[in-house]
Amino acid sequence: MAVPAPADDEDEPTVAALIAARPFLSLHALDGLVLEQVPLARIADELGTPAWVYSAGTIRARLAELQAALAGLAQVHFAVKANDHLAVLRLMAAGGAGADVVSEGELRRARQAGIPAGDIVFSGVGKTAREIRLAIAEDIYQLNIESAEELEIVSALAAAMGRRVRVALRINPDVDAGTHAKITTGTAKDKFGIAYHEAAAVYARAASLPGVEPVGLALHIGSQILSTAPYRAAFARAAELVRTLRAAGLAVRRVDCGGGLGIGYRDGPGASPAALAGAIRAAFGGLDLELMVEPGRWLVGPAGVLLAEVVLVKGGRFVVLDAAMNELMRPALYDAWHGVVPLAARDAVGAIAPVDVVGPVCESSDTFARARLLPLLAPGARVALLDAGAYGAVMSSTYNARPLAPIAMVDGDRWAVIRDRQPHADLWAGERVPDFIA
Ligand code: LLP
Repeated sequence: MAVPAPADDEDEPTVAALIAARPFLSLHALDGLVLEQVPLARIADELGTPAWVYSAGTIRARLAELQAALAGLAQVHFAVKANDHLAVLRLMAAGGAGADVVSEGELRRARQAGIPAGDIVFSGVGKTAREIRLAIAEDIYQLNIESAEELEIVSALAAAMGRRVRVALRINPDVDAGTHAKITTGTAKDKFGIAYHEAAAVYARAASLPGVEPVGLALHIGSQILSTAPYRAAFARAAELVRTLRAAGLAVRRVDCGGGLGIGYRDGPGASPAALAGAIRAAFGGLDLELMVEPGRWLVGPAGVLLAEVVLVKGGRFVVLDAAMNELMRPALYDAWHGVVPLAARDAVGAIAPVDVVGPVCESSDTFARARLLPLLAPGARVALLDAGAYGAVMSSTYNARPLAPIAMVDGDRWAVIRDRQPHADLWAGERVPDFIA
C-alpha cells in the first residue's frame, strides 16, 4: 500500500498564493493558467510538453524596475548565463542593458542579439587565449581578471596584438553570501577572484604591464542572495580597497558590483532593487566611480515557466511528469524549490495531499518536489513549474537521449515559438561510428 510522505512544511504556499504573488500569472475558469494574456494550455496544445515559455512583458518590466532603482547610480549588464536565448538578449539590448559574458559563445550570442561590444564585460576564472583574443579584438567594455596568473596572460596576449585592454580585477572579499554552498563565490575557499589581501599588489602590477589598463575592481559574491548584509560587507571591503589604491597613486575609475539578487521562489517578494541601490550608494556614493551591476536571475527568473504533463500517478504518491532533471536541473543540483501549478482551473482546486513530483529519468535526484501539497492530478493533467526563466533551459542536457524542449515567448496577447523541439536525429547528428568497429 502506498504511504504518502508527510508534508515537509505545513506553511507551504497554496496554488492560489503562488499565482497571486506573480503579477503576470492569473487563473481563469475557462482558460486556466494565463501568462500575460495567453492561456498556457494553448501553447501546450500546440507545442506539446515539456516546453518552456518566457514572458517578454515580465522581462521588460523587471529590467525597467531595476534600472529605475539604479538610475544615475549604476549600469545594468545582464548575466547572459542565466538565459542566453537571442530573443531574451534582444529584449535586454532594446531596454538598454549591457551583457556580462563568460565564454566565446556568450560573447557571440550577445553581439548577435545587438548588444554593442562597448557594453560587454567578460568574466570567468578560466578564459582561454582564444576567448581573450576575441574580447580584445572586439574591444569590449572590460575584461574582469580573476587571478594574478590571468593578468600576465592577458597582458601578453594584448601586447602581442599591439593593444592595451581595459581590465578590472575581480576581488574575493571573503564574505559569505548566506546562500546555497554550490552558488557561493566570494569566500576564501572559493575558486573565484583575487584574494583581498593580494589585490593591491596585483593592481600595482597591472599598472606596470604593457598590455593592460587597470580601470577598477569587480566582485560577485554569490547567487540567490536575499539580504543586503553580505552585499554591504563586500562593498565596504571593495570601497576600502579603492581608497587604498588611490592613496598609492593608482587610478580606479570603475567598480562592477556583480550579480546575485535573489527572487522569491517560494514566498516573499525576493530581493529589492532599492535595497541593493542603497547598499551600493552607501559604500561607493562619495567615491566618484562608474558603477555597474551584473544580475541574471532577478531579471529573467520569474519570467519563465516549464510546462509538463502528468504521465501517471504511481500509488497515489509519485506524480510522474514528462519533464525531467535534464530540462530543469535546479532541484536536482541545489534542492531548489519551484512552484508547481496546474494549467487547468479544475485541476487547481480541490483537496490537497502531499505528493512527490518527479521526472522519468533514472536517477533519484530527478525529483522536482517532495511531499508537495497539491490538488489531485490525473494522468494527462498539465502543470507549470514556476520561476524557470533563469538557469533553466541554459542548463538543460539531452541525458537519456531526451531532445531539448521547445521554447515559446509571450508578449501581451501574442506568442511565438522561439525554439523548435530538437528532432531526435539531431541528437546524434555529429556522431560517427569508426570503420574499425563497423
Ligand atoms: N556575475 C558573475 C561573475 C556570475 O558568476 C554570476 C552567476 C552572475 C553575475 C549572475 O548571478 P545572478 O544574478 O544570476 O545570481 N545555476 C545556479 C546559479 C549560478 C550562478 C553563477 N554565476 C542556479 O540555478 O541557482
